[in-house]
Parts: sequence; structure tokens; C-alpha cells
Amino acid sequence: ALVSMRQLLDHAAENSYGLPAFNVNNLEQMRAIMEAADEVNAPVIVQASAGARKYAGAPFLRHLILAATEEFPHIPVVMHQDHGASPEVCQRSIQLGFSSVMMDGSLLSDAKTPATYEYNVDVTRKTVYMAHACGVSVEGEIGCLGNLETGEAGEEDGVGAAGKLSHEQMLTSVDEAARFVQDTGVDALAIAIGTSHGAYKFTRKPTGDVLRIDRIREIHERLPNTHLVMHGSSSVPQEWLQVINEYGGNIPETYGVPVEEIVEGIKYGVRKVNIDTDLRLASTGAIRRFLATHPAEFDPRKYFTETIKAMKQICIDRYVAFGAAGHA
Ligand code: G3H
Ligand code: 13P
Ligand code: NA
Ligand code: ZN
Repeated sequence: ALVSMRQLLDHAAENSYGLPAFNVNNLEQMRAIMEAADEVNAPVIVQASAGARKYAGAPFLRHLILAATEEFPHIPVVMHQDHGASPEVCQRSIQLGFSSVMMDGSLLSDAKTPATYEYNVDVTRKTVYMAHACGVSVEGEIGCLGNLETGEAGEEDGVGAAGKLSHEQMLTSVDEAARFVQDTGVDALAIAIGTSHGAYKFTRKPTGDVLRIDRIREIHERLPNTHLVMHGSSSVPQEWLQVINEYGGNIPETYGVPVEEIVEGIKYGVRKVNIDTDLRLASTGAIRRFLATHPAEFDPRKYFTETIKAMKQICIDRYVAFGAAGHA
């Protein structure tokens, strides 16, 4: 059944677990996520970005997600709009039947330029007013995602700030987070604590202190009833990078957020963990390997089946690691 995000995150908070929120663009991702959730009995958050809506078309995405609730009626599913650039975009998604929306007012509507606090409050408050009238949950964001050491925001073509960011901009302040929740009434709050979007998060192997878990903890202490969200939380599996590069790809050395650090964050109030890149890497690796080793094969179902298997395993791993298994 389709449920609001508030319902799932409240349950996650009561039972001290976190939920991966996977981006969905196509049938294969949807199947991988649902088959994994079904196997470990986990609740599901799927999210559609602006890029996904452009690729598949909003009605196709909507029906893909509704189809999931029809085939797996026992699994609660949140249909979430990822990174809305304006209240108008969120309104359109609410109209389409999304049960949750993100108003990302940390950046202006170009999804690149860092916004002022006042702008962020204005667009987020408008969205909360509209969404709550419709029983739809709202995620807001305070602070801009970026690598705290280099100031790089990550992600060239999707969501990401233009140019270098200051340390200030990239680390959500406790006071500002508290004020923002008070001023807007959001259900969930995305915070910046050192993660960034895309595959190129860290150039060196993370040593176990890449994220500001201490800051997550401080924000959670101040806002115990606000569900915290971590964007840019792909772990960038080294084994899939290796497969990609072994079968014709060319991806330079890069590292993601270690699963153990995410699990630390979950101890201190992180309830939603956004993952897109990991499923992209797994499906690309699976396709490259299959086509390279089956040169005469041309039935797309053959290689897409490989992508489902690859993505499904990642989904299962995250459901289990974040403690969501068994909670559907
Ligand atoms: O937040 C970024 C997500 O990975 C979505 O990326 O806009 O390319 O679909 P996208
Ligand atoms: P990744 O690029 O780390 O998968 O993050 C996805 C995300 O935050 C979507 O909103
Ligand atoms: Na989101
Ligand atoms: Zn994001």
C-alpha cells in the first residue's frame, strides 16, 4: 500500500532503524527494490528525481510505483519526489499522487546556486502548507552537500552547488537546523555533514571519520522529533568499479560513504538514507560483464535480468545493514 513518509519514518524512529531511499528511473530498478524488500520484509521508499521524470515521464514512474504496490500489497511503499526545485514542482507531484515530496530550498530553482536562509524558509514553508493539507509529507534541506575537505559539491549534471562551497555552507549548523524546523514544520530534514552526490565523493579510501557524525548527534539531541536524512549516501562498491573497469569501462579511483558510518548516523537519528549511484554502478557493471561474456546475445531481457540481480543484492544488503529488514 502507498503510505506517507511520515508514517514510515515515525515507525523507523520508534524502532531505531534507518530506511534506504532508492532512486527509481526504470522497471529494472523498481523490480530490484521490491524483490529485495519482499525477500527481507522491509518497508520501501522510492524516489523520483527531476531527471527520472524527464527520462521516464512522470505518469510512467507513477504507474511503475503503483504497480509495485499491486504486486506486493503487503509492503508499505512511499512514493517520494526527490529534490523539488520549487513549490510549483512539488505541487505538481502532489497532484500526481506522490505521498511525499522534498522541497530542496538549499539551492535556488536552478538547483545550483546556494540560497539564503530566508529563501529556503519561504519556499519550504509554502510547500509544507500545501502538502500537509493533502496528507503528504515534506522533506526540507538545510546546508549544501559537499566534501568538507575539498569544498567540492559533486554531481555535475544532477543536483549540486556550482563551484566551491565554504566549510560553513557545507556543515549544517545546529542552531540553523533548529530554527529551520521551527520556521517550516518539515517532517524530515536533510543535513549536510560531509557527503556529496554522485560517484566522486572521496579520492582516498575513507578512514572511518569521513562524516561529521558528531554533528548528526548534536542536531538529533536538539531536534529529537525530526527525522534526519542523509543524501549522497552511496557507498560506491569497489567490487563493481572493478567489474566495470575489467569489461571496458574507465572509472578513476573513487570512494563512497562506508556503510558502517551510515549505521553510526542511524544510531543518532538518521532515518532516511538516499542511494542512487550504487544501483547505477551495479547495473552498469552487470551489463558490461554480460555483454562482454555473451557477445552473440541480443535479447535485452537477458542483460536487464543481470542488472536486476546486481541491484537487488545491494538493496538487500542496505535493508539488512540499516536494520529495516523485518519491519514491513
Ligand atoms: O540527487 C541526485 C540523484 O542521484 C538523482 O540524480 O537527477 O541524475 O536523476 P538525477
Ligand atoms: P548518491 O549519489 O550518493 O547515490 O546520492 C543520491 C541522492 O542523494 C539522491 O537524492
Ligand atoms: Na529526497
Ligand atoms: Zn540528494
